Amino acid sequence: MTNYQFPEGFLWGGATAANQLEGAYLEGGKGMNLADVMPGGKVRLNVISKPGFDFKIDKETYTYPNHDGIDFYHRYAEDIALFAEMGFKTYRMSIAWSRIFPKGDELEPNEEGLAFYDRIFDECLKHGIEPVVTISHYEMPLYLITEYGGWRNREVISFFERYAITLFNRYKNKVKYWLTFNEINGATHLPIMSLGFSPATEDVRLQESFQGLHHQFVASSLAVKACHEIIPGSQIGCMLIYMPVYAYDCNPVNVLHALKEEQVFNYICGDVQVRGEYPAFSKRYFKENDINIEMQQNDLETIKQYPVDFISLSYYMSRTEKKELTEEEKASGNLIAGVKNPFLKASDWGWEIDPTGLRIGLNQLYDRYRVPLFVVENGLGAYDTVEEDGSINDDYRIDYLREHIKAMGEAIEDGVELMGYTAWGCIDLVSMSTGEMSKRYGLIYVDKHDDGSGTVERKKKKSFYWYKNVISTNGQELE
Ligand code: BG6
Repeated sequence: MTNYQFPEGFLWGGATAANQLEGAYLEGGKGMNLADVMPGGKVRLNVISKPGFDFKIDKETYTYPNHDGIDFYHRYAEDIALFAEMGFKTYRMSIAWSRIFPKGDELEPNEEGLAFYDRIFDECLKHGIEPVVTISHYEMPLYLITEYGGWRNREVISFFERYAITLFNRYKNKVKYWLTFNEINGATHLPIMSLGFSPATEDVRLQESFQGLHHQFVASSLAVKACHEIIPGSQIGCMLIYMPVYAYDCNPVNVLHALKEEQVFNYICGDVQVRGEYPAFSKRYFKENDINIEMQQNDLETIKQYPVDFISLSYYMSRTEKKELTEEEKASGNLIAGVKNPFLKASDWGWEIDPTGLRIGLNQLYDRYRVPLFVVENGLGAYDTVEEDGSINDDYRIDYLREHIKAMGEAIEDGVELMGYTAWGCIDLVSMSTGEMSKRYGLIYVDKHDDGSGTVERKKKKSFYWYKNVISTNGQELE
């Protein structure tokens, strides 16, 4: 037994994203979206983020695992029943924008798409599971990308606003918790996923990304405003990919470098969305990097007036920074990585495992912002083996989750206000960065493989039973 004091009503659960599990990419009146043209395999991010990528499907050369996902579109009832069996209090999921507005710029939504999510929410509520909904999780209607240029175009703000208002009006009696943009601060590193465009050249990468981000900030604030007006008592948060940044050593040059990286990567988006203003350090950073954000007169006022209610975050790893580093010293990681940390072990995909980093990160975020925090993604991508007797003994995943839950328990003791924890990819799904099925995060196994084969049958892993016990004891039993 632990002595951790997870608050009464702590939102334990799991998290997924529409494009990584739904499949049915051409059903229900859905339009094409960014995920539909993302090939499977480790080439994925290179292919789609190359300037000049044509956003077309090329089945001769690539596979497209997101097209079928794990067929959640048809199997959601079975999956949500399994979540309920684990005792989930909450399910974090996202809505596919292109199911609601197939092209993105229509005036009227697609009823079939809206009805699909009604069924999902009804199923959750039937089991006493509170939905937490991400409005945009690494995906937007393809038409907005090819015809409008994605988030570099200011017009997209009003399309997003219409989409968000449509969701709030439709689901106001079913959904209380909302998140605007998934991992919004990842945009400067991977604009294609967050902003729907590849910068024209490396020189303009930051300029274009920050312009796109600014549009998202305004859109997010307008969503906050609408959410509060339409759904009294609702809570809406931002979502950050949070990696505390460590200096490689105590050389002040490296410490300063780490501080700067931390500011730019971790704090610009948080400051704008929570404090309602661009931070002081951004002036110099923008000047030195030739970033000139075009703003309209009321933008800063809108941002100031409608900050988010809470911060949600994904946490997979910390990041270690050194001013001058060699190729061999480089680490690999989730969108971004600095230098290898000699104190940490890494996953099979090179993501450094650092539970203490979660405690550090939660402390940093809470000290800076003083709003409730919500860990909406955390987990271990690993190869799983199905034994002859059908069991899947994923002790490595249990160890990973246990240590991170302990870190949260410690952070709560440190004084951090934590709303909940949703384990990423609670059911195996398509990896975002590599489009692989073999990079599994689930507590529930799905018989689906990188080559597209498999029955999509679901099986409970050992971690399923372990997590069930964690939830039922509110984090008291972690062994
Ligand atoms: C987060 C994303 O960065 O990491 C998810 O929000 C993603 O969409 C998760 O799946 C894990 O990353 P990956 O690349 O292992 O799927």
